[in-house]
Amino acid sequence: MTAGKLLTDSEKRLNEAGVEEPGLNAQWLLADAMGVERLRLLAEPDLPVPAAALKKFKAGLLRKEQGLPLAYILGWQDFRGLRISVDERVLVPRPETEELAGHAADFLMGRKGGLTALDYGAGSGAIGLWLAYRFPELRVTAAEISARALACSRENAGELGLEARMKFVKAATLGPLRGPFDVIVSNPPYIPTRVIPGLAPEVLSEPKVALDGGSDGLDIARMLTRLAPARLKDGGALILELGGGQPKTLLEEMPDKLWKEKKMFRDICGIERFLFARKN
Ligand SMILES: C[S@@+](CC[C@H](N)C(=O)[O-])C[C@H]1O[C@@H](n2cnc3c(N)ncnc32)[C@H](O)[C@@H]1O
Repeated sequence: MTAGKLLTDSEKRLNEAGVEEPGLNAQWLLADAMGVERLRLLAEPDLPVPAAALKKFKAGLLRKEQGLPLAYILGWQDFRGLRISVDERVLVPRPETEELAGHAADFLMGRKGGLTALDYGAGSGAIGLWLAYRFPELRVTAAEISARALACSRENAGELGLEARMKFVKAATLGPLRGPFDVIVSNPPYIPTRVIPGLAPEVLSEPKVALDGGSDGLDIARMLTRLAPARLKDGGALILELGGGQPKTLLEEMPDKLWKEKKMFRDICGIERFLFARKN
């Protein structure tokens, strides 16, 4: 069996199963199974697929047909150039969240002294780990309600050699976290509860606690806006990723006497997704 023929057949199979981007998914799975670069499969369609790779590929294809996220099957997701290990314990980091981490980095660039950051609802740890990687002096606290997710973020810190500047805290609110932090960055669960049953199977195979933000989706985000001022340094920032329309709602609730420079950033698709506010 050649790589080209296998890819053509598998793309058709995934397409029939209703998988989005069937070609790309098949390519990633085969590249992973064969241990070659994905683009090599396109450049060399006559490449023979060894028996062991074929077996691994078929197992991955079946899991993909069943609606698992590609990153769970591969076991990793790229996040701004860092390879983050992921599995069923955590949400797969999304491209929007890479943008969120970029906004936090832009803010930290302008800060001086012993920098500290809190990644609240850390999941795989992607945001905090990338910030720690990007700023060699930064000390990062990763906070999580899920012990399983916290274990995953800790493992990722070990794999990336960043554990010396990371602290891991199990928390359900900002209450136990004292700081003070230069930045509190979070991609909290922000999907309204009633929307969850209609989500795609891939998303539904991710932890519900990573998705469900309560009746208007803002339970965790609202808690952060209330408790963050006491945990930020002067001029420190709260930066959140939210759903479309949500930043505006929350910014209106945040009192001007506590917050300044309240603004929103759009994501690459033009959606008002990120909330930014500095402590007054
Ligand atoms: C949308 S996921 C984000 C994960 C990761 N930061 C990312 O961006 O890929 C939200 C995370 O918040 C955690 N979480 C949910 N409720 C929480 C709470 N009350 N306190 C702390 N973490 C919470 C979930 O377990 C999940 O890991």
